Amino acid sequence: MSVQSQTVARASRGSFVVMAAGIAALGGLLFGYDTGVISGAILFISKAFNVSTQMKEFIISIVLIGALCGAMSAGYVADRLGRRRTLLAAGIMFTVGAVLSASSTTVWALLVGRFIVGVAIGISSVTSPLYISEVSPAEIRGGLVSLYQFAITVGILGAFAIDYWLSGAGAWQWMLGLAIIPSLLLVVGMLVMPESPRFLFKMGQEERARAVLRRMRSGADIQQEEQTIRHALAGLQIGPAVGVVRNIRFALFVGISLAVLQQVTGINTVIYYGPQIFQMAGFQSASSSILATAAVGIVNVVLTLVAIIFSDRIGRKPLLYAGCAGMTIALLVLAFSFSLPVAQHDRGLIALMSLMVYVGCFAFSLGPIVWLLISEIYPLRVRGMGMSVAAFSNWTANFIVAMFFLTMIQSLGQRDTFLVYALLSALTLVFVRFAVPETKQEQLESIKVG
Ligand code: BGC
Repeated sequence: MSVQSQTVARASRGSFVVMAAGIAALGGLLFGYDTGVISGAILFISKAFNVSTQMKEFIISIVLIGALCGAMSAGYVADRLGRRRTLLAAGIMFTVGAVLSASSTTVWALLVGRFIVGVAIGISSVTSPLYISEVSPAEIRGGLVSLYQFAITVGILGAFAIDYWLSGAGAWQWMLGLAIIPSLLLVVGMLVMPESPRFLFKMGQEERARAVLRRMRSGADIQQEEQTIRHALAGLQIGPAVGVVRNIRFALFVGISLAVLQQVTGINTVIYYGPQIFQMAGFQSASSSILATAAVGIVNVVLTLVAIIFSDRIGRKPLLYAGCAGMTIALLVLAFSFSLPVAQHDRGLIALMSLMVYVGCFAFSLGPIVWLLISEIYPLRVRGMGMSVAAFSNWTANFIVAMFFLTMIQSLGQRDTFLVYALLSALTLVFVRFAVPETKQEQLESIKVG
């Protein structure tokens, strides 16, 4: 082959790993879309089925319950059947769930559909980052796994836009049903994509593993990477040496803590209750509060690009430091704006600015980096299970924060509620400093935790 055709072949295979990551990231797009779309759709669903407030809350939260179940089981399945088949199953469930909920004529059919969608979200929240992390070369792994978070934010914003667009016609079936398009793309994409080479090595399918690795590495020399993977597997096979077990325990502790901290620093109070927060802060009309929430959604998408570009250059921990510090300051400003004697209009403006800074800082730090780190810190043999436990903790914390946010506001008041989130953001910074490893540029198998 001539030098020129070799270069062309290498470039096109280099884009293969990006394509694999992009397809797996569709799981994130659906995560964002399906959790976001209900806020607009529920207005029309509750009219169509004439449901009580409790039933309305149940229709909203059943997706989170499904996600809990999906996250809990996904690691076990992904460690046995493989990452690819598990993602394929998630794609099929996303499709079935969307068809069922969009065509439902009773509230029970809707609940079943939304539960299935939730399970698919939970499964993909474990398997998408896991798959991307395992196919990526170490030098660009941070950027590629951050694509997953980017897709989540695009999904949230897309859901918002579609709710807004279809609300005139009250077309809730279309709002829920449009998810079929990315769901089918995920199914078709995963049918075409290969299994993770690391999973294949683990299962002893070395020929296939090497072929996939070569394809994912643009024809570059894979000998060293292969050797590192084999060593890591052999090390674990020899027996659960005390050091290894301690290491896994500590990795579990770090993974669970990060996953919980990502939620208890309050991000979904803004994502789920944005318009209500803006109204508390002095926005007069519902439409201006919705518009302000959309602006925050755009900031969320755009600032995620910072993580895609910089997580492999300056590292995961510097982004976490900057992000948590910014979130803490923004939350303090927001909290105190509720007790300062300022005009209502100014308070609304302070809320808008501080929530933009808060979400922007989350978008390049705790958002993408948590999903990235929990896909990196576990040894291959238990990686699926480890991610499952972390993702399950993330969904549990998500559920609790979403359930109790309004109660917290009622009992603590607005200022103290946001002070609690500010304190937890500062605590996250300290936790990152002392417990979290820097994984930038490291081969997955060389990452040491603890
Ligand atoms: C979190 C979600 C959140 C989203 C916001 C994700 O990383 O896991 O709970 O809604 O970021 O962009």
